[in-house]
Amino acid sequence: NYGIVLDAGSSHTALYIYAWPAEKDNNTGRVEQTHSCKVKGKGISSYASQPWKAGESLTLCMQEAEQKVPNKRHHETPLYLGATAGMRLLNMENSSASDKVFQAVEKALQKFPFSYQGARILSGQEEGAFGWVTVNYLDDLCSCCVLTSMRFLSPSQGLETTGALDLGGASTQISFVSDNYDGSESPSNSVTFRLYGNDYNLYTHSFLCYGKDQVLRLALAQQTQVNFHPCFHPGYTEIKNYSVLYDSPCVSGRKPQGAPENFTLRGNGSFGQCQEIVKSVFNFTSCKYSQCSFNGVFQPLLQGPFGAFSAYYFVMNFLNLTDTSIPLDTVKDKLARYCATPWDEIKLHTGVKLSYLAEYCFSGTYILTLLTEGYNFTSESYSNIKFIKKVSRSYATLFLLHTPQMPHDLSSFPVDH
Ligand SMILES: *[C@@H]1O[C@H](CO)[C@@H](O)[C@H](O)[C@H]1NC(C)=O
Ligand SMILES: *[C@@H]1O[C@H](CO)[C@@H](O)[C@H](O)[C@H]1NC(C)=O
Ligand SMILES: *[C@@H]1O[C@H](CO)[C@@H](O)[C@H](O)[C@H]1NC(C)=O
Ligand SMILES: *[C@@H]1O[C@H](CO)[C@@H](O)[C@H](O)[C@H]1NC(C)=O
Ligand SMILES: *[C@@H]1O[C@H](CO)[C@@H](O)[C@H](O)[C@H]1NC(C)=O
Repeated sequence: NYGIVLDAGSSHTALYIYAWPAEKDNNTGRVEQTHSCKVKGKGISSYASQPWKAGESLTLCMQEAEQKVPNKRHHETPLYLGATAGMRLLNMENSSASDKVFQAVEKALQKFPFSYQGARILSGQEEGAFGWVTVNYLDDLCSCCVLTSMRFLSPSQGLETTGALDLGGASTQISFVSDNYDGSESPSNSVTFRLYGNDYNLYTHSFLCYGKDQVLRLALAQQTQVNFHPCFHPGYTEIKNYSVLYDSPCVSGRKPQGAPENFTLRGNGSFGQCQEIVKSVFNFTSCKYSQCSFNGVFQPLLQGPFGAFSAYYFVMNFLNLTDTSIPLDTVKDKLARYCATPWDEIKLHTGVKLSYLAEYCFSGTYILTLLTEGYNFTSESYSNIKFIKKVSRSYATLFLLHTPQMPHDLSSFPVDH
């Protein structure tokens, strides 16, 4: 059997094909990702003013999928598109524009011979829960991704699950099981489901606007009046367009009156000052629960190992900072040295677009600040985090959305609030 998932993120879309044997082998499905295709261009939400292009953008990858999945399987191969925070924001900003994007995408996908199952925006809880399931599926010992029920032992059987930390462009998710949390204090942060006969009660929260691209907007929005921005390298200059910067519901309320059309962004590369700016995007003033992360959001005590993926991995890997056995203070020192490196030197790095190179100091600072100030990881618990490369949430998306052909006894997911 085959299944196809389009993972429509805020910055780009990717297509994944999965395959598994029709016959179960001792109740264990062996699922493999057989193909992936990165859609050229930006995320589908960026086509708000030309929706047809959102559909068109998917065509090449879909044609590839037609080649890769055997013809006789086409009609029974389910096809899903799941969109995340980019479309959540567009839907908030202009729901008729987001509807048009979905219509265009639907029209394009229905031209293909697969069993089209729909395109929709995943909820923040789903996104968090899918990330958690995927992290707990990963078995480093087995690259062929055998999904076995062994991974899902219940807490009473003494095996801890791994928490999931996901960072995208427009939102970020934290999901974990905490023994002292039964879900009653903040039901909206609770997802319960049953996997392999075990019941799980997961804490999860998705922070809209706290993906790295939107937080960069917030950090720039607060600093447009000053001469130098500490999150950019010394010697870095760029002309920024005010209307483009504020063109997002995450920052639109903060646009100063009578702002000029353009401003010049100049870097001075100070990790300490950058961290102060990043801290100021979190609100710690009110918490009506026993404890909170930030912005008044409940968070139980952190527990267990954590897997950090997506932008967490890409950024920390670029910065050579994925080794969490290195003391947190040393990691900060290394990042501070990187941020202070002149732009002339940074831009010699080959194979990476300059626009990306310019942002690693900020992104690294945001990641460390989010983990320590936002989620309350300490220098000690920081070492429980593992930055992991290979996590495709679409994996979980496929099997959890597509119950009928599920290779396991996954059932009733998610029963959320
Ligand atoms: C299936 O499981 C049984 C009992 O655990 C075991 O004896 C048998 O060898 C397994 N078969 C395969 C093909 O793995
Ligand atoms: C919303 O999007 C539609 C196009 O889909 C556009 O015609 C309309 O002007 C937009 N509304 C606002 C308030 O931007
Ligand atoms: C800034 O962006 C807006 C919207 O894209 C555009 O209309 C305007 O011309 C731009 N201004 C400059 C100075 O580039
Ligand atoms: C923080 O949140 C409180 C309560 O919601 C609000 O009154 C306050 O204005 C917020 N502060 C900032 C800096 O956004
Ligand atoms: C990371 O390490 C590699 C290999 O040692 C090196 O080439 C690269 O410049 C380093 N990257 C950064 C950002 O320090």
